[in-house]
Amino acid sequence: MNYSYKTDAIGSYNTDILVVGLWADDEPKVKITALPEALNKDLSAELKRRGFSGREADTAMLPLLGRGKIKHIFFAGLGEKKKFHDTSLRSFAARVVKQANGIKAKDVVLDTGIVSIMKKTPEAAQYLAEGFELASYHFTGFRKHTRKDEEKKKTLTEVIISIKTAKQQKELQQGVEVGKIYARGTALARDLVNTPAMDMHPGEMAGVAQALAVRGSGITCKVRGQEEMQGLGMHASIAVAAGSRHEAKFIHLTYKPKPGKGTVKKIVLVGKAVTFDAGGLNLKPENGITDMKIDMAGGASVLGVFKSLAELRPNVEVHGLLIAVENMPGGHAYRPGDVVSAMDGTTIEVENTDAEGRITLADALAYASQKIKPDYMIDLATLTGAVIIALGNEITGMLGTSPEIKKALNKASKQAGENIWELPMYSHYRDLLKSKIADVKNVGGRPAGIITAAQFLEKFIHDTPWAHLDIAGPAYAEKEFKPEIQVGGTGWGVRMLLNYLRNLK
Ligand code: BES
Ligand code: ZN
Ligand code: ZN
Repeated sequence: MNYSYKTDAIGSYNTDILVVGLWADDEPKVKITALPEALNKDLSAELKRRGFSGREADTAMLPLLGRGKIKHIFFAGLGEKKKFHDTSLRSFAARVVKQANGIKAKDVVLDTGIVSIMKKTPEAAQYLAEGFELASYHFTGFRKHTRKDEEKKKTLTEVIISIKTAKQQKELQQGVEVGKIYARGTALARDLVNTPAMDMHPGEMAGVAQALAVRGSGITCKVRGQEEMQGLGMHASIAVAAGSRHEAKFIHLTYKPKPGKGTVKKIVLVGKAVTFDAGGLNLKPENGITDMKIDMAGGASVLGVFKSLAELRPNVEVHGLLIAVENMPGGHAYRPGDVVSAMDGTTIEVENTDAEGRITLADALAYASQKIKPDYMIDLATLTGAVIIALGNEITGMLGTSPEIKKALNKASKQAGENIWELPMYSHYRDLLKSKIADVKNVGGRPAGIITAAQFLEKFIHDTPWAHLDIAGPAYAEKEFKPEIQVGGTGWGVRMLLNYLRNLK
C-alpha cells in the first residue's frame, strides 16, 4: 500500500472513494465543504433513509455518479465518542479495504476528520496502517501468474490522507512506517501457515529462518540437524520426527541490538513448529487432520517477529527457538508407551503420540533455560484442541509462572487487538501427569487439557520466568471474524509480541 499526505485532497482529485467517519452520537449529517450544498443534503437524506446510525459496524457506500470528481463516498460508523480508542482505527481502516476491494477501487482519500479523531497517541497512525495492510493481505502463492496479476489490478493500492498542516504528515508518517513493518512480519507468518505442509517441511522452515539472518539485520541464525540435536540430548524431539521422512531441525535465531546502549533484557521466544500433525500412530480422524499444516503457526509467528525486529531494531536481545518436526505415522514412528528423554534428562512416557507439540517444546524450553538463561521466556503453540473448546476461535489461552510477563502480555495484547485470557496453573492437576515408569507422562487426560499441557511444559523451564500462549484457536481463521484477517493463517501473536518487546524497559 502506498500512502500520501495532502492538504488539498478532497474534491480536487479523481479518487475512487472518499472515506468519511461519522459518530453514533450525532445525527448523520454530511458536511463535505468541497461538495455542493445540495449534494451534501442528498447524501444526508440517503444515509437517513438507510437507517445509518454511525455504530461501529455501520457502513454505507454511496456512488456520486458524476456529481463531482469523487466516484464514491464511503461512510463508516465510528461508534460512540467516549468508547473510541486509537486501536479502533485498525478495524476502521480494515473495513475500508474490504469495501474498496468489493467495488474494485484503487485509491481512497481519508477525510480530514479522520486525522483529527486520532487521540494523539504515537501509535494511532500505526494502528491505522496496520488495518490497511493486514486487510490487504492475500495469499496468492499458488495462483497462476496471470490470475495473480489480475487479482492485484482490482485491489486498493493507494491511501491518500487529508491533513491540515505539513507537521501532521511527519507525525503520521512514522506511525505508518511502524504499522507497515508490523504487517510485513504478520504477512510472513500468514504465508508460512498457508503454505501446504508438503512445501513447508522442517528443512524449508529452517531455510526461511536462515534467510532472515542477512548481514546488517542484527539477526543471526544457527540450524542444527538431527545429529547435532542428538549431541545436545534432544532425543524427545527426534522421536517425534521419527515417523516422517523429514529430518527434525533445531532453529535458533538471535537478534542483538546495536551495542553500547546499556544492559539489555534477554528474551526467548519459543514457537511450536510441527509442520504437519497427522497425530503419529495415534492418527487423527478425518475432521481433525485436514488443517494440520497450521501446527507450525507458533513457529511461524516467531519468524514473523524476527522479520520485523530487523527493521524496528528495539533495544532488547531476542532469541527465537523452533524445533521443526513432522508428526507422521511411518514405520519408524515413535509409539504409544515409548519413553523418551528430553534435553535436560527428564524422561517422558508417551501416552499419546498426538500430544507431540509439548514433547518438542520440552527440548526447546530446556535448551533455553539451561543454555541461554534469559530474563523472560514465552512460548507460542497450537497446543491443544481443548483451548478451542474453552475459549473459541478468537482467544488465546495464557498460562505461566511469571506475573510480570503475564501483565506485560495483557497490555501488549490490548494494543495489538489480539485477545488473550489467563487460565490457572491449578496445583492439584499436576498429579495428572504422573507416570508409573518415567518422570512425566505427555498427557493428563481430557479434563483441563489446556492446564495439564501447560503444567507439562513447566517441568522444563527450570525456574525461568515463563508464560505459555496456547494459540490453537486464533492461529487459523475458518471465517473472517474481524475485518483485518482473511480465511487462513492469521499471523496471531506477531504484533502482540512486537509490542511486548518494544514496551520492555
Ligand atoms: N496440534 C494439536 C492441537 C490442535 C488441535 C491445534 C486443533 C489446532 C487445532 C495437538 O498436537 C494435539 O493433537 N493435541 C491433542 C492432545 C491430546 C492427545 C492430549 C488434542 O488437543 O486433542
Ligand atoms: Zn497432535
Ligand atoms: Zn500438534
